[in-house]
Amino acid sequence: MRRKLIAGNWKMHGSLADIGTFVDGWGDASKVDADWLVCGPFPYLPELIKRLVPLGIAVGAQDCSAQASGAYTGEVSAQMLADIGVSHVILGHSERRAYHQESDALVLAKVKQALAFGLTPVVCVGETLVQREAGETDAVVVAQLEAIIHALTDAELQQLIFAYEPVWAIGTGLTATPEQAQAVHARLRASLAERSEALAVEMRILYGGSVKAENSAALFAMPDIDGGLVGGASLTAQDFLAIGHSME
Ligand code: PGA
Repeated sequence: MRRKLIAGNWKMHGSLADIGTFVDGWGDASKVDADWLVCGPFPYLPELIKRLVPLGIAVGAQDCSAQASGAYTGEVSAQMLADIGVSHVILGHSERRAYHQESDALVLAKVKQALAFGLTPVVCVGETLVQREAGETDAVVVAQLEAIIHALTDAELQQLIFAYEPVWAIGTGLTATPEQAQAVHARLRASLAERSEALAVEMRILYGGSVKAENSAALFAMPDIDGGLVGGASLTAQDFLAIGHSME
């Protein structure tokens, strides 16, 4: 059975002091039947690994280079992330796609780098409001998913996590209803099943977009929603932990 994953995406937020506050505020998560992950900014990854991994929270990055190594000023390779103990990496987040013109092909190249060094890619897909209103949601997210899965082996696909994040719900306070999200998750899982039934059954598909404790229980109760990718509500231990407790 798929175990829930509650993943935080700190984006470009936080400081060393905030990490200390987060650790001090973290409570008892032992009754929460889920895996935990925090994806932090590059400079804080070593501190996050030192302080969060002992609490049972895995640590991920928010991007990696599509290149293995070399003269790529400003880039951070998957190998470097693996070297310092990072276990996951968010790839293809809509903010990267929008502000850094990341194409499906580039996201795929990054996924391959991540897999080559044993990182678990959390691959994001999602439609804009214009696309949703034009009735294009399924076509957009399936195309984003298929661009990745067609180029990977079944063994590689077993390492992946997907996140459905409607762009219009990110940081806006607008959340897809559980039914809206479930419909897209079911569509994504159907695409995976065309490739392999076993893969579709095993694949974790997270929902992201204004997830908070007030809406997480209803979202995570949907049969094809396997947890959340949480931005704003992952920045404090209290808010983040409350999402886990909402499932009890
Ligand atoms: P949000 O961000 O929870 O603040 O909407 C989610 C994300 O972008 O991953």
